[in-house]
Amino acid sequence: MSRLVIISNRLPLTIDRKDGALCYHPSAGGLATGLDSLDTSIEKLWIGWVGMPVESEVEKDTITQDLKEDGLIPVFLTQEEISLFYEGFSNKVIWPHFHYFTQYTTYEESFWESYQKVNQLFADVVAKHVQEEDIIWIHDYQLLLLPAMVRALFPKACIGFFLHIPFPSYEVFRILPWRKDLLHGVLGADQIGFHTFGYMRHFLSAVYRIAGYEHNFGKLLINGRSVNVDVFPMGIDYQKYAKQEIVLSSTDYSFQIERLAEKRSIILSIDRLDYTKGIPERIGSYERFLQEYPEYESKVTLFLIVVPSRSNVDQYQELKEEIETMVGRINGAYGNFDWFPIRYYYRSLAFSELSALYREAHIALITPLRDGMNLVAKEFVASKDKSRTGVLILSEMTGASSEMFDALIVNPQDSAQIVKSLKQAMDMTAGEQGWRMKKMQDQLKKYTVQYWAESFVKELVKLTQSNAKKDIKLNKASVKELLLDYQKAAARLLILDYDGTLMDFDPDPQAVAPDDILLGYLETLCNDPKNKVVINTGRDKHTINKWLGHLNMDFAAEHGVWIRKDNKWVQNPGLRSQWKKQIRLVLEQLVERTPGSFIEEKDFSLAWHYRKVDKDLGAKRVREFKDMLTYLLASLDLQVLDGNKVVEVKNVGVSKGQATMEWLPLKDWDFIFAIGDDHTDEDIFQVMPEDAYAVKVGVGESIAKYRITTVEQVRDLLHLMVEE
Ligand code: UDP
Ligand code: G6P
Repeated sequence: MSRLVIISNRLPLTIDRKDGALCYHPSAGGLATGLDSLDTSIEKLWIGWVGMPVESEVEKDTITQDLKEDGLIPVFLTQEEISLFYEGFSNKVIWPHFHYFTQYTTYEESFWESYQKVNQLFADVVAKHVQEEDIIWIHDYQLLLLPAMVRALFPKACIGFFLHIPFPSYEVFRILPWRKDLLHGVLGADQIGFHTFGYMRHFLSAVYRIAGYEHNFGKLLINGRSVNVDVFPMGIDYQKYAKQEIVLSSTDYSFQIERLAEKRSIILSIDRLDYTKGIPERIGSYERFLQEYPEYESKVTLFLIVVPSRSNVDQYQELKEEIETMVGRINGAYGNFDWFPIRYYYRSLAFSELSALYREAHIALITPLRDGMNLVAKEFVASKDKSRTGVLILSEMTGASSEMFDALIVNPQDSAQIVKSLKQAMDMTAGEQGWRMKKMQDQLKKYTVQYWAESFVKELVKLTQSNAKKDIKLNKASVKELLLDYQKAAARLLILDYDGTLMDFDPDPQAVAPDDILLGYLETLCNDPKNKVVINTGRDKHTINKWLGHLNMDFAAEHGVWIRKDNKWVQNPGLRSQWKKQIRLVLEQLVERTPGSFIEEKDFSLAWHYRKVDKDLGAKRVREFKDMLTYLLASLDLQVLDGNKVVEVKNVGVSKGQATMEWLPLKDWDFIFAIGDDHTDEDIFQVMPEDAYAVKVGVGESIAKYRITTVEQVRDLLHLMVEE
């Protein structure tokens, strides 16, 4: 039975020493709190670091035993690894860089070396505790290299990766000297998840521009493996916050908060101490609010909760000083004997304290400069489940803002806007607070952390299963079945596409003449009297005839404009080519504006190739081109066929499917095999009988029953057929 193995840098429990004894505390931060509340029906195992250096073997044993019962497997780091891997590469390179704080990115080779070493250390722990049938889910920026390392250990494993922080734009990501290794590390996973579509788009753009892989609706093909990149916004355990038991006693902290909230409106600010959270900017906006609206003196209190984090990293220490100076100054300048405008706490809170604050606060002021998601915003809203009062002011730079449309959305650098929103929140009617809260709560109730994890894992498992089923090379059973059917058959029809199926693409279409190995396979297949081999291609007649015309096979060239049967070429009747002049003018303009593209003229069609052009620019030009041609196409009875990095204009009624019908009814075939890689081949699959072997090459949607991922695999299959 497979288990769910979670791997993250930090375990949900952090350990420290007090008077020589080990103390276990819940870890802070979105990843640990979110994943820890996950209650899965399958057995869960969690691998991660314990949060402090442990070097004594005895202590390691004790910790390992203590954690075992909860399904936690510790990874131990030395003090040096903590400074170079955790504080170094993770938090002085990736964290600032991915949050657009490039001024803090530290280009230090020793950090990178340690990052690779520690990722390998995690892989060693995985090797020891994980089995290939397990579902492996790796988390966050500290372990970007791990997916590829685990893939090397378990080539067939089901591996997911989720990034909890933003993925920056390509222009920022490309600055990192280690960009390529980082991408290849992540691409070891079968499924890669992000909180928002924006992060996913940036990632795919970096993958294309740096690693050279193009995606098809988020699907990538990496060395024959299909990888799914998608958006999975993380939620919270809604009921945990909605259903807090309110037990009041006069000594209780929550009681005191409630008393306070009766006197003054509480504005709540909770974050880890982190420069990405925009804490000084937030305090500055609050000060401006007090200046602009002096009538709120003694009527509001900013509860500023700052949770200690990464205290050995310089910028965090400097930030603490900056915050404390501001708090001191503002309390000194605006406070009175009965009132501090800011109540500042530098510590982590117990859950009961946290939920009392959420419950009692009037406004949550959440204004990070960048934040992957921000769970605090969601927790605040869920805590208002019963009261439906309160206002969320939320930075547009958080992942949460792409879901929480009914918050007051602000630009964290725009202090005038924040002040305006604070005033708006203070004046907001109970009715408006209620409907805004309800709309956000309805959303949060549905998209919980359980929903997030279940949908990620469900998609991951589905993908791995469908890869195994559809890939006939990987699935030995279906190859065996195909070969058996082939062997038994006395009349076989083989319809083969050429480019992207028998030969890989080259930017120069004339550079892919068949090699001797391919010629050998085709020759043997053609010379078998039981076979009818047809090359069904978009290529022009002249080229395909030059390359393969000497073989005993049939052809459909230019998508069926030309047919060769029994060695005689015949043109599809009724085709016209007078239109080419008119369309050529449009295409020439396109080439002029798109360096690297070119026109190919065939007897009855014109093709525009854009293989060397940036894919986004290519797609844009194709759209423009189609728009320009809309009227011309209808009046000239033409159509545009989309190929792989080529569009082709030709007469209506010409298609590879139509061409296939030249051979399909000829005989009562016992075995039909059709294979192709692009949209134009879908027309062939469309006319295939149910029991035919229709095979799609590569990723992307297809109606074909089977799939092969690479040209190399197609050739392996031909090899096996030849040997039958
Ligand atoms: N949190 C915590 N201890 C505290 C205060 C807050 O663990 O003293 C939790 C909070 O409930 C939330 C998480 O820390 O679940 C912060 O997650 P968020 O996504 O807002 O920010 P991150 O820390 O991940 O940057
Ligand atoms: C963010 C990161 C997590 C990290 C957490 C706390 O939420 O995405 O990966 O665990 O901050 O940071 P720390 O450095 O204490 O683990």
